[in-house]
Amino acid sequence: MIKSRLCDLIGIKYPIIQAGMGPFSNNNLCVASANAGVLGLLSTSGVFNKDDQPWIYKAFVETAEANFDDDMATVMEKVLKRTYRLVKDKGGIFGINVMVSTEVLKHSHVMIDTAIRVREENPDMKKHFKVIFTSAGDPMGWKDKIKGAGFTWIHVVPSVKGAIRCKKAGVDVIVASGHEGGFHTSWEPVHSMILLPAVVETVSDKDTLVVGAGGFCDGKTLAAALVMGADGAQMGTRFLATQESDFHQIWKEGVVESDDRATLVARGFVGPARWLKTPRSSEHAKNTLQKSPGVFLGAPDDYSTIDMSLIQYEIESIKAVFEGNKEKAMMAAGEAAQRIKDMPKVNDLVQQMVKEAEGILRNASKLVA
Ligand SMILES: Cc1cc2nc3c(=O)[nH]c(=O)nc-3n(C[C@H](O)[C@H](O)[C@H](O)COP(=O)(O)O)c2cc1C
Repeated sequence: MIKSRLCDLIGIKYPIIQAGMGPFSNNNLCVASANAGVLGLLSTSGVFNKDDQPWIYKAFVETAEANFDDDMATVMEKVLKRTYRLVKDKGGIFGINVMVSTEVLKHSHVMIDTAIRVREENPDMKKHFKVIFTSAGDPMGWKDKIKGAGFTWIHVVPSVKGAIRCKKAGVDVIVASGHEGGFHTSWEPVHSMILLPAVVETVSDKDTLVVGAGGFCDGKTLAAALVMGADGAQMGTRFLATQESDFHQIWKEGVVESDDRATLVARGFVGPARWLKTPRSSEHAKNTLQKSPGVFLGAPDDYSTIDMSLIQYEIESIKAVFEGNKEKAMMAAGEAAQRIKDMPKVNDLVQQMVKEAEGILRNASKLVA
């Protein structure tokens, strides 16, 4: 059985994190993942989208057993209680992924304060709801609130510089997210093969764990993460294309049907984003080259400088996914899409990956003469 420090720290069976994939609902996926023995993560940013992208919000509240008119904190409370109810008998472990970028900071506090309150009011929940995972922003300043409330704190970064900042901020587990990864990616691209060992070498020690993200999707890549010194692997695209995943069927099929060189990078609403390659996303990449060339040159723009027609195009394309309109849809996914050829149940997927990784790691010693 494969075990790592990540398993010991948060009580999961296998050293795998099912990635948060906001703003889309992961509410059912998280339950299936937690019950399969990995860390299940609820994305939370869908709750911020009631006015701007109500189709995303509606799908979120429906899978949260909440109501369209509930306020943000109530939706959050309902989804936490639902997840707890559905994982507790199987010993599932889960957490929340909360974006902490400047534009959404006010909402991030609501999410995290609600999480702390709900867990305090339901002491048994502490055995299952163990992690707050922050993303897309500065980790500095969150330690007292998150760790003070007894959560394990995970933060994701795309660089060694970011990992050093996490360490200073007191993060328990640093996720090194390579450029292969699905959707949000960094302005200055570094892939997992370089980033993960570099982050491990710089920050991993007895108090700080490191997890790889970006391109991990099977037993081979899980074994590779562990061999590179990581304590586990986070997977987004792989879990997206599963039976229980909340993503629209055309999105899941888009991942499964994709082939060689399946993705491209173009402007997303929080910066560069990786999309499945389609005529629609190729058009978006062309527009990005014209209107936001910084995406390809590593020069960030923001909402005060960007041509908003790019953001509008993205919003329309995501709305099209929810309408099942394949032609107009843009679907985010990682480079791993080209290696994903099936849509299994989450538990079968996890068992298969862990078995494959075990076999590889056992055989690896035979390579040493
Ligand atoms: C559709 C989609 C949405 C995502 N949204 C978020 C998000 O809101 N916050 C975040 O931290 N990461 C987000 N990610 C990145 C994942 O958390 C994860 O790091 C990434 O998928 C790992 O790479 P992989 O796709 O190769 O597994 C998203 C990924 C996908 C595919």
